[in-house]
Amino acid sequence: MKFYIATDHAGFHYKAQVIDYVRSKGHEIIDLGPETADRVDYPDYGRKCAEAVKADPGSFGIVICGTGIGISIAANKVPGIRAATCHDAYTARMARAHNNAQILGFGERVVGMGVVQSMIDAFIETSFEGGRHERRVEKIDAIDAFYKKEA
Ligand code: RB5
Repeated sequence: MKFYIATDHAGFHYKAQVIDYVRSKGHEIIDLGPETADRVDYPDYGRKCAEAVKADPGSFGIVICGTGIGISIAANKVPGIRAATCHDAYTARMARAHNNAQILGFGERVVGMGVVQSMIDAFIETSFEGGRHERRVEKIDAIDAFYKKEA
């Protein structure tokens, strides 16, 4: 699998460890920044990751901020992107199985590295179940399409 990763300053300290972990599992991961722990705005980095994933069909993303919430909200503003703020292996698994999320989000101030690794494992190992979930995901895309027409 190919991943892109981006954080804000509050998620920055996990970034290197997450990159190492994903690579140790045999997957590719591209670092979209930031390069230092200086304060940055999470919408810039959520957007950056979401745009990279959208431009590279079949790829996935990881976004990290303090809570995982703000950076995921920002990523979700990119049409067609589904970023899930997860807290454990169960939510990470469901984000793939039911929501076909392409981006895993979490908070450095919320979960420890052991939980992070279990979420990454679950996200990697789980495929979208399709079926009834396909229709629901299509309805999410329909919301994007509706508001695009209005704009
Ligand atoms: C930064 O202090 C913090 O607000 C940010 O990392 C994130 O938690 C926002 O959702």
